[in-house]
Amino acid sequence: MTDQGATTKRIFSGVQPTGGLHLGNYLGAVRNFVDLQSDYECVYCVVDLHAITVWQDPTKLADQTREITAAFLAAGIDPKSSIIFNQSQVRAHAELGWVFNCVARVGWLNRMTQFKDKAGKNREAASVGLYGYPVLQAADILAYLATHVPVGEDQKQHLELTRDIAGKFNNDFGVDFFPMIEPLIMGAAARIMSLRDGSKKMSKSEASDMSRINLHDDADAIANKIRRAKTDPQALPGAEVLDADGAITDAFAKERPEAANLVTIYAALGRQSLHDVLNDLAGKSFSDFKGMLTERAVDQMAPIGAEMQRLMNDPGHIDTVLKDGAERARGIADPVINQVYDIVGLLRA
Ligand code: TRP
Repeated sequence: MTDQGATTKRIFSGVQPTGGLHLGNYLGAVRNFVDLQSDYECVYCVVDLHAITVWQDPTKLADQTREITAAFLAAGIDPKSSIIFNQSQVRAHAELGWVFNCVARVGWLNRMTQFKDKAGKNREAASVGLYGYPVLQAADILAYLATHVPVGEDQKQHLELTRDIAGKFNNDFGVDFFPMIEPLIMGAAARIMSLRDGSKKMSKSEASDMSRINLHDDADAIANKIRRAKTDPQALPGAEVLDADGAITDAFAKERPEAANLVTIYAALGRQSLHDVLNDLAGKSFSDFKGMLTERAVDQMAPIGAEMQRLMNDPGHIDTVLKDGAERARGIADPVINQVYDIVGLLRA
C-alpha cells in the first residue's frame, strides 16, 4: 500500500468561519501557522462544514469564510507555498467523514467534552453534525495523510480520537495506510484574556468590542482599546511573579488578572520571555507600560489590519486564492479517498 506524503512532514490545521479573528487567535494559532511554513508542507483550511454544525446565516457565511482567508493572507501565510482553501470545495472531507462515521464508535464520541460544552443542557436538540464534529475533523487531517497538527489545548481530545480512528481503520482493514498524527500543542500565548476583564478569555462572542483587538482593527482602534483597557492601581511587578518554568503563577494571575494579561500580550507580541519582559518592566507605572504596549501592538497588528481591509475590498482575489488552493488540495485528497474506497471495497466502476 502506498502511503504518499507520510514520509514528508505535512501540517494540517483548520479554523472555523464563525466570526472574525482576534489577537488571541493570532498569537495562539495564526502566527504559528505562518512560522511553520518554513519547516513543513502546510495545508490550512477554513472549515465551513464544521461551522454549519451550529446555525449560520447563509447570507453571511461566505463573507466569514473570506474574512478568515484574508486574515491568513494578511498575517503572512503564503498561498503559493502553502495550501489555503475552504473545506466544502473539496468533497473528500465529507466522503472520508462518512467512512469514518462507520469506523468511530458511539462510545468514543460520548466521551468528547467539547460536544458536552457546546450542546449544553439541551443535548437532544443539538445537530447530529455537532455530535459527529470530531469525526469530520479526523477526516480533514487524514485526507491529507498529515503528520502534524497545530492546535490549541482544547483540541487535544479530538486529536486523540483522530489517532483512534486511524488505528482502528488500519487494524480493521489490515493496512498500514493512515499515519499516527502528532499534535503540536500551541501553548502559553494562547491564554490571551479580555481587555475589560482579565479573568475571561478574549472572545469573539463577548458583547463589548472593546474587550478584544480584532485582526482587522486599524491603528486608532488598537491604540484606543489599549488606552481604555482595564488596569489596577499598582506598579508592574518583576520576575518574582514567575514560577520555575517561567510562567506567571496562578496566585498572581488571580490577584492581578489585568496586569498578568497585558504583560503576557506584550511578551508574546515581542516574542520575548516573560522573564526578560518583567525584568524590564518592574516598577513601571501602567501609564508608561501602556505606551510601550501600544507601540508594540500597533507596529505588529496595524499592518495586518490594513492588509485585511485591502483584501476584503477585493473578494474576487480571495475567491481565486481559495479556488487555486482547493484544486491543489484535491490533488492530494482525491487519490487518498480513492484508495480508501478501494480498501473498504466500495466499487468504483
Ligand atoms: N475543531 C477545530 C477548532 O475548533 C477546527 C478544526 C476543524 C481543525 N478541523 C480541523 C483543527 C483539523 C485542526 C485540524 O479549533
